[in-house]
Amino acid sequence: MSTITIALSKGRILDETLPLLAAAGITPVEDPRESRKLILATNRPGVAVVILRASDVPTYVEYGAADLGVAGKDVLLEHGSEGLYQPLDLGIGRCRLVVATQRGFDWATSIQRGARMRVASKYVRTAREHFSAKGMHVDLIKLYGSMELAPLAGLADAIVDLVSTGNTLKANDLVVVEEIMPISSRLIVNPAALKLKRGQAKPLIDAIAAAVEAAGAGAAASAAGAGGLR
Ligand code: PRP
Repeated sequence: MSTITIALSKGRILDETLPLLAAAGITPVEDPRESRKLILATNRPGVAVVILRASDVPTYVEYGAADLGVAGKDVLLEHGSEGLYQPLDLGIGRCRLVVATQRGFDWATSIQRGARMRVASKYVRTAREHFSAKGMHVDLIKLYGSMELAPLAGLADAIVDLVSTGNTLKANDLVVVEEIMPISSRLIVNPAALKLKRGQAKPLIDAIAAAVEAAGAGAAASAAGAGGLR
């Protein structure tokens, strides 16, 4: 029996991915948040997980070095998802991709005046598409992290970044001036692996789909419950 490898993003998404996989009956033999190992066997014979930097997950799955993967929509848009099958929105890692500026910066007026703005982001491809769809020409500056610093340090007028709780923006006196899109994590699958290892891959995808549905039903039920308390 060949092994099915699932590529997971380390960091925040992992905290939400592990319970979802557990609900689908897949548990790594060691906690990847504690272990320094990069390949971990799971309780399911023939299923292993690899722990990667988020932006590398699509690359592993695209080349078939991993069969399945969990990747944020932000990462997929930036990487390009040609050749990747995306059967499931996992409903985890939810956040928003936004444009933000320093509080008090008149973004709308600057745009109306046609001022050429500098925008810093890790998501330059997605940002370029967003602004060109609006007919705006902006100068994009590629950064790899701590985007919030760019307007404060005078590097850029605005940033394109992910917002979850909004705490980072708030702590740095930045405000959202445009919503680009909601983001969540997706299951990605190598199409050749799905054909060649269908007998092993399909039950895993189905189990993950059932876990997502159950989690969604749970969230809906608790929202209804909270509503009932009001
Ligand atoms: C992300 C994002 C923001 C922050 C938003 O960064 O880039 O900086 O989270 O979260 P909040 O709205 O809950 O404050 P992350 O911590 O993933 O690190 P990064 O800077 O390497 O992208």
